Amino acid sequence: MSVTRRQFIATAGAGLLLPACAVPTGSTPARVLRASVSRQQLVPPEYPQTEVWTYDSRVPGPLLRARQGDLLRVVLANALPQATTVHWHGIRLPNAMDGVPHLTQKPVAPGGEFLYAFVLPDAGTYWYHPHERSHEQVARGLYGALIVDEAQPPEVDRDETWVLSDWRLDKGATEVADYDSNRFDLTHGGRIGNTVTVNGRFTPVGGEFAVRSGERIRLRLINAATARIFRLKFDGHSPQVIALDGHPVAPHAMGAGVALGPGMRADLMLDCMGKPGERFVVADTFYPRELRVMELVYRDEAPLRGKPSAAPLTLPPNPLSEPDPARAQRQDIRFEGGAMGGLREAEFEGRRLGIQQLVREHGIAWTVNGVARREHDHRPMLTLKLGSHQLWTLHNDTAWHHPIHIHGIAFRILSRNGKPAPLREWADTALLAPRERVEIAFVADNPGDWMFHCHVLAHQQGGMMASVRIQ
Ligand code: C2O
Ligand code: CU
Repeated sequence: MSVTRRQFIATAGAGLLLPACAVPTGSTPARVLRASVSRQQLVPPEYPQTEVWTYDSRVPGPLLRARQGDLLRVVLANALPQATTVHWHGIRLPNAMDGVPHLTQKPVAPGGEFLYAFVLPDAGTYWYHPHERSHEQVARGLYGALIVDEAQPPEVDRDETWVLSDWRLDKGATEVADYDSNRFDLTHGGRIGNTVTVNGRFTPVGGEFAVRSGERIRLRLINAATARIFRLKFDGHSPQVIALDGHPVAPHAMGAGVALGPGMRADLMLDCMGKPGERFVVADTFYPRELRVMELVYRDEAPLRGKPSAAPLTLPPNPLSEPDPARAQRQDIRFEGGAMGGLREAEFEGRRLGIQQLVREHGIAWTVNGVARREHDHRPMLTLKLGSHQLWTLHNDTAWHHPIHIHGIAFRILSRNGKPAPLREWADTALLAPRERVEIAFVADNPGDWMFHCHVLAHQQGGMMASVRIQ
């Protein structure tokens, strides 16, 4: 699709929106990302195709790729029957480019366009998705990977991305449209699907990933599901974790696996040391019933090398401001509600209402610091001073997991239930187990109003969201 004159002028003008400090070191040509309804064969061919909502007519959408420091320019063209936006999950960008309707921009109406143009400050694995009715739009298939390459990427034989997701299909392979009506999903673990896909294809039966003996693969995992948590285990292999949520960590063996809540990413280094012809299962072990997600199949080809590559695994750090816990301002953030949570009442649109009534009449079941907020309620929960150091204790006072995500910044995970977190990893999403307490720290260095919400999208829609002002 060609870029029209109007878009081109918009592109040229958009540079003015960028803060003076963010001088791009390069630029990708403006490209159009077209959101529309299409059809895709998600499940094996004995079933029909599924109607899906897509970027550029496929799920996942196109893999967008640029170099760290580049200016990314994407025109969203909305051919959907609903308004939409694009949010660039994990990217520390200027607030006006963050893609939150009614907070950072007007929603893009059907037939409308919006130009996103911003510099990519950090290398790593990110993703994009809508922020308008995201509990429906993401579930229908609107998401894609955004990869930002290091100036000097580590030496690998292949760089691969698995976008993990799931669907709730009926027997005719049609997506069940119960996004707003399912109270069970709302009050429990979200809208967990019944059909897992990797890169838009059902893989638990017959899904194969061909590898060559001896090769080293950088494997980027992105959890784009709206509720399902993944923890992958690679039989016969011991991948090294090199980055979480895009940011480098000290390389370490994956061990029992990394639990990836919705929105979260992990970069793995996979040394394929099996023999030609061998096969190994990759299974998800998060839920009681193990699920086969993929099979590594060694091609009948002479090994590329006889022992694992000796190239270094360590990635260069991203330019993040280091928080100083000693001088940080402290905040306690409590998440409450849901089934078996014991929450009785909550503040909602200025009134205190009983939880039963909130669930029944408003589809609300969750709170952040006692307040349930609806999708477009963006009165800030907190105002932080620009440049201040912050230490937040996140309290999960519920019986469910919550991947808690903040826009515009990255934080360090300091501790879990009072125990220091060994990696002190940078993240944009912290997965909180039931009743868990997690301390995070960051520098509030990006001005604007930023969303702070659970990435189980039925929870977000059900009140577990807020916004935070940095000024
Ligand atoms: Cu991935 Cu507020 O979103
Ligand atoms: Cu949640």
